[in-house]
Amino acid sequence: MLHTSSHGQQLLILLGFLAAGLCQDQKADSIRACLDQGGVQATISTDATWAKDTAAFQFRIAPEPVAVALPQDKSQVATALSCARNASVKVSAVGRAHSFQGYGYGNPGNLVIDMQAFTGLSFDNATNQLTFGGGANVGPAAKYLWDNHRRHFPHVRGSHVGLAGSTMGGGFGTTSRFLGIPTDNLASVEFMLHNGSIVTGGPGSDLHWAAQGAGPSFGIVLSATLNTHAIPIDGAVSYSLTLGDVDVDIASAALLKIQQWVTSGQAPDELSLRFQLGTFASAGFFYGVESDFDRAFAPLVESVRSVAPAVNLTKTVLPSFWDAEVAAVGPGMNDAAGGQLGGRAFFVQSWTVTNDHALSQKQAKALLQSYHSLNRTDLIGSGFLDLWGGISRDIADADTAFAHGKNLWLIRVDGQLVSGIWPSDGNTHMQALMKPFESALKKSAPLRSFVNYVNSELSVKEWSSRLYGSKNFAKLRKMKAAFDPEGMFSGYGLAIPAK
Ligand SMILES: Cc1cc2nc3c(=O)[nH]c(=O)nc-3n(C[C@H](O)[C@H](O)[C@H](O)COP(=O)(O)OP(=O)(O)OC[C@H]3O[C@@H](n4cnc5c(N)ncnc54)[C@H](O)[C@@H]3O)c2cc1C
Ligand SMILES: *[C@@H]1O[C@H](CO)[C@@H](O)[C@H](O)[C@H]1NC(C)=O
Ligand SMILES: *[C@@H]1O[C@H](CO)[C@@H](O)[C@H](O)[C@H]1NC(C)=O
Ligand SMILES: *[C@@H]1O[C@H](CO)[C@@H](O)[C@H](O)[C@H]1NC(C)=O
Ligand SMILES: *[C@@H]1O[C@H](CO)[C@@H](O)[C@H](O)[C@H]1NC(C)=O
Ligand SMILES: *[C@@H]1O[C@H](CO)[C@@H](O)[C@H](O)[C@H]1NC(C)=O
Repeated sequence: MLHTSSHGQQLLILLGFLAAGLCQDQKADSIRACLDQGGVQATISTDATWAKDTAAFQFRIAPEPVAVALPQDKSQVATALSCARNASVKVSAVGRAHSFQGYGYGNPGNLVIDMQAFTGLSFDNATNQLTFGGGANVGPAAKYLWDNHRRHFPHVRGSHVGLAGSTMGGGFGTTSRFLGIPTDNLASVEFMLHNGSIVTGGPGSDLHWAAQGAGPSFGIVLSATLNTHAIPIDGAVSYSLTLGDVDVDIASAALLKIQQWVTSGQAPDELSLRFQLGTFASAGFFYGVESDFDRAFAPLVESVRSVAPAVNLTKTVLPSFWDAEVAAVGPGMNDAAGGQLGGRAFFVQSWTVTNDHALSQKQAKALLQSYHSLNRTDLIGSGFLDLWGGISRDIADADTAFAHGKNLWLIRVDGQLVSGIWPSDGNTHMQALMKPFESALKKSAPLRSFVNYVNSELSVKEWSSRLYGSKNFAKLRKMKAAFDPEGMFSGYGLAIPAK
């Protein structure tokens, strides 16, 4: 019976596929017709520019939106939302397409609203705040602010990266220990909601709080405003601290010495430190004068030397703050467009650790061991710990949707494709690789993570508890029901489910 009907079944499945394909094509055509009617430029998969219009940094995930709209102004964004509603498709915004999880293009079948026309920048001398368009990116905004006003806002280490996306998802950068992460510096957000209404969420508002970690679930960011800062001195010290040829035991002991230096209050906030999991070398910037750097580092070097005798501190004094910006982020900082998109195929995982549950020797060793057990020819590792700490000591988890109070370390591990296509077991392999570390970490406190570097394969239960915590998540769900009742902005992996 089963056997005789199998041809029929295959035919039905085939017809189903064809119908789905046809349906998708019809949907694309009808959405484009709607956008055309409303004067909104758009492309669909049969257009010659489709590959360029759906280019993304993450090569592991192929974007499959139904169409990409390129609105030129706010009213065209509203038209695009209306077309999406009428066609019953979900919407996601793409800023600069750097999402490590492909969230800009979102789930297959989305209408993607590409914000590349929204790149305006303005500075308010009265408040010292910078307002940027929802498609602006890091390099040009930071350069504009420095060149014209000699001010700075903390930002990610990628000049081409979108400002709206990176700010809503954390954005940890080299000045974040003393100035906060971009999320902390978000002063207000101008959202277009599902029905075309424009609402500005300022301090104390639900939308502002939600944007600080979960913004893409709530609407299209037309513009946003950041607090900016004067810099202690117009210069910096760039340094590196190498351990010599050491094993995992010595390297994890040295890492604990660095941590002790921080938790005992000896590390100045005006300092960045990134410990590489591969080489065990640390490097960073000190945004102050050289003599203060020397004074702060002397006890650290002594303490690390007690476990790693070949420790070697080298430093370079950078003549200007902008030199430090270019050294930290790259030459794209001087490019009018912020450089190029670039990209690679990789799988990211991240964890954060708080002051209250600093890494134990066992956990540090498990981290280095897990990472160094990667032994494949098709995947290579890349990973680091960014020292957080600093002013996060005064931040509580409830302050913003993204729970990051008292964070001490931001830990990131990538598995990167060497060449060819992403292996089907790549994600599971990398997760299994880091399991011993996760298990060790879980023993002292619930796992925490970082929005921009979240593991895309976690369940809702897992990512909600790691990124938001149960209280913030419950609050977000209520807000989602109020601000996006139909779930128009739910077409991506971190969409907040409505309550
Ligand atoms: C080279 C490089 C370096 C990086 N360095 C760091 C770093 O140092 N620190 C750090 O924290 N992160 C870093 N990141 C991660 C980066 O901050 C995030 O991937 C960020 O979300 C990218 O924003 P985007 O606009 O470029 O990406 P997109 O993929 O376009 O968007 C990312 C998310 O934001 C949403 N979004 C974007 N614009 C809007 C808008 N206008 N309205 C509503 N939603 C919007 C998208 O829908 C999506 O969910 C880096 C990424 C790269 C590629
Ligand atoms: C969507 O449908 C409504 C109701 O039919 C209509 O008024 C509106 O103009 C449509 N939107 C667009 C952009 O065509
Ligand atoms: C703002 O300050 C800059 C210098 O910091 C100055 O060039 C500019 O004219 C000021 N703009 C206004 C509107 O005051
Ligand atoms: C320390 O590092 C610097 C820069 O890499 C190198 O030139 C120097 O030889 C090193 N010193 C020691 C003692 O290893
Ligand atoms: C890595 O894998 C190769 C091939 O499977 C094996 O011969 C080698 O011993 C492994 N190395 C380590 C450090 O596990
Ligand atoms: C638009 O949507 C928001 C959020 O759901 C709602 O509060 C508001 O009343 C709506 N505006 C209009 C004009 O329907």
